[in-house]
Amino acid sequence: MADNAGMQQGSPAIGAAGLVPAAPGAGGTEGSGAAGGSARIAVKKAQLRSSPRPKKLEKLGVYSSCKAEGACKCNGWKSQNPPPTPPRTDQQSSAVNLQEPCRSCSHTLGDHVTHLENISEEEMNRLLGIVLDVEYLYTCVHKEEDADTKQVYFSLFKLLRKSIVQMGKPMLEAQDSPPFEKPSIEQGVNNFVQYKFSHLPSKERQTIMELAKMFLNQINYWQLETPSQRRQRVLNDDAAGYKANYTRWLCYCNVPQFCDSLPRYETTQIFGRTLLRSVFTVMRKQLLEQARQEKDKLPPEKRTLILTHFPKFLSMLEEEVYSHSSPIWSQDFLAGASGGQIPIRPGNALADRPSELTSDSGEKRKPTEPLPHEDSKRPRVVGDIPLELINEVMATITDPAAIPETSLLSAHSARDEAARLEERRGVIEFHVIGNSLNQKPNKRILMWLVGLQNVFSHQLPRMPKEYITRLVFDPKHKTLSLIKDGRVIGGICFRMFPSQGFTEIVFCAVTSNEQVKGYGTHLMNHLKEYHIKHEILNFLTYADEYAIGYFKKQGFSKDIKVPKAKYVGYIKDYEGATLMGCELNPSIPYTEFSVIIKKQKEIIKKLIERKQAQIRKVYPGLSCFKEGVRQIPIESIPGIRETGWKPVGKGKELKDPDQLYSTLKTILQHVKSHQNAWPFMEPVKKTEAPGYYQVIRFPMDLKTMSERLKSRYYTTRKLFMADMQRIFTNCREYNPPESEYYKCANLLEKFFYTKIKEAGLIEK
Ligand code: ACO
Repeated sequence: MADNAGMQQGSPAIGAAGLVPAAPGAGGTEGSGAAGGSARIAVKKAQLRSSPRPKKLEKLGVYSSCKAEGACKCNGWKSQNPPPTPPRTDQQSSAVNLQEPCRSCSHTLGDHVTHLENISEEEMNRLLGIVLDVEYLYTCVHKEEDADTKQVYFSLFKLLRKSIVQMGKPMLEAQDSPPFEKPSIEQGVNNFVQYKFSHLPSKERQTIMELAKMFLNQINYWQLETPSQRRQRVLNDDAAGYKANYTRWLCYCNVPQFCDSLPRYETTQIFGRTLLRSVFTVMRKQLLEQARQEKDKLPPEKRTLILTHFPKFLSMLEEEVYSHSSPIWSQDFLAGASGGQIPIRPGNALADRPSELTSDSGEKRKPTEPLPHEDSKRPRVVGDIPLELINEVMATITDPAAIPETSLLSAHSARDEAARLEERRGVIEFHVIGNSLNQKPNKRILMWLVGLQNVFSHQLPRMPKEYITRLVFDPKHKTLSLIKDGRVIGGICFRMFPSQGFTEIVFCAVTSNEQVKGYGTHLMNHLKEYHIKHEILNFLTYADEYAIGYFKKQGFSKDIKVPKAKYVGYIKDYEGATLMGCELNPSIPYTEFSVIIKKQKEIIKKLIERKQAQIRKVYPGLSCFKEGVRQIPIESIPGIRETGWKPVGKGKELKDPDQLYSTLKTILQHVKSHQNAWPFMEPVKKTEAPGYYQVIRFPMDLKTMSERLKSRYYTTRKLFMADMQRIFTNCREYNPPESEYYKCANLLEKFFYTKIKEAGLIEK
């Protein structure tokens, strides 16, 4: 469900040449100038570096325990002339000497800093840098009002103090270390540019790269909202996940911008899609708003880029960020030949150590919400269209120039398309809400529940109002609500019965002036995804006679799949209404489904067009049917073979599993004993074929096939043939035609097809 816009997050000016970071605790610390915090610390550090040595020792003495003999317990030297607030943030003008006694323990300053006597100036300056960061964090801890942020500042404060005492390097002792998700945002955006724009001429591609670079820079300086701000704004959110990312972001990205004794990472390099999803909608909205407001101030050379191209770029990227099936987030994403990486900001912490991000040796992290349909490794079957060709075609159909935006809303577009776009743009929002007797009522939720009660009462006039009120406010019921301009315009009230494996849809309505705009469909799609997430895969509802058509279009039927014993006595029975059910398929991303189908249709259309363009010959139509012929073999149609059609697969399908098994076993044995089978006996070893697994996405070999056969995986001859064909295709893809391997593949393939034909599995 979408993030809605609301509170303002810090964002730098988009056309500005220098992006301005916001200071930690920007809400209150150290004045209002965001860059001021960082600049002020830098100035103080420079001043301190040029101070006389006793002054430096005094500063370090404050953070050092007393080393005087007799086990003095004093943990920091304190001047006899106490500063106004501990610890002091300015340098004192009064002279200090090492003989000055400590206010707490009476030992001298020299006694507190004996361990520093022989350290180099460089080391001393490093420690002083940490001291100033500690003092800055101390101020932040005191001024910060948000509890989560305060806690992080305090932990960092303690960590830095400890590293002064131990004279070590500040190391964050987190359970996990960056990167926190792969691919990173930067890699994902890189992939996006490859995926969508690699076909463009180089000048245009350059423009896109510039947009991508600009976008990534924006994220690196984006001020994340605090977890509590987010909780108020987005109701159905993975609050714990967001808080974990927020904490990491403070520790590794935000605070180190100001406290440079902490190692600093770029947000785009250590976070992935999860964090991007949590900021994208709001960020996009604010960036576009800002661009509009500042359009007159933009330098002329940037105007078209920012006002024309940037919004389109963001819309296309948004599709991929929220899509459940976008390939740009796959770790196996294959970069196109033409693209390069987007350089962001040279000289940052990770750019100096690129292996941390690019190396595959790091622990693979699963995306926070693994989706069952994200099965990028699903093997393709024999006769497939080459991946390169599909990528090429995809690049042309996703070109914004190729699909005019208006066509999305044409008569041929899916019912939910407009609603989906409105949700992306933040015009509408979906929230699952409900009343609770345990928690303090949230005013906004109560207002929405009242709104829902009104919509249901108006749209379902035959239902008693009191009854609607009772169910909408009943804590056992929840309602997926549709909000537009802060107002409820529709919803689906439901009750989940997890133990019975179904959910009852109780009321479903959209306010009259908003009907037939696709909202009803999009609501139902969201409800389906919500239930897949909660592992309930059946809906039941009593549809009233006017709504049967709507429910049918949402995949409901009168043929109920849930056993009667599971729902009788649980679901409410309505007179005159029809019981309808809908079984959900957990591998379907319902809110994206119509887009996926549309893309698939486009791909097939384009592939057909390409094929047709290759075969120019036009044959006269068939006249044999007029002459009384009833049926002809497909291959006898003139031109059919030129299209690439092959009678592959035509042959005897052995119905008896044992017979199929023994036939395949014999064939496999023959193939394995063939003199050209040696390169394919075992999986290709990484060490012997560099980069093999980057080029070959679906490896196969005769040993794996033997194992599959043994485990009875080959339930049809087609599966067996597909695997064998994969061996030959892979070999020819990786090796040059003049190689020994390539020749072996050709010869073994020929032999294999002879055996297959002999066994009658395909026609001779
Ligand atoms: N009969 C037949 N088809 C319908 C009906 C209907 N009553 N209502 C919508 N449709 C069709 C639409 O024409 C559209 O078809 P299309 O894709 O072929 O063009 C499709 O269903 C979905 O249209 P949406 O625009 O997505 O749906 P909408 O936003 O209009 O919401 C809803 C549908 C909720 C049924 C709305 O029309 C409504 O509130 N109706 C009055 C209340 C009602 O009858 N609710 C259901 C009662 S039963 C129960 O609550 C369990």
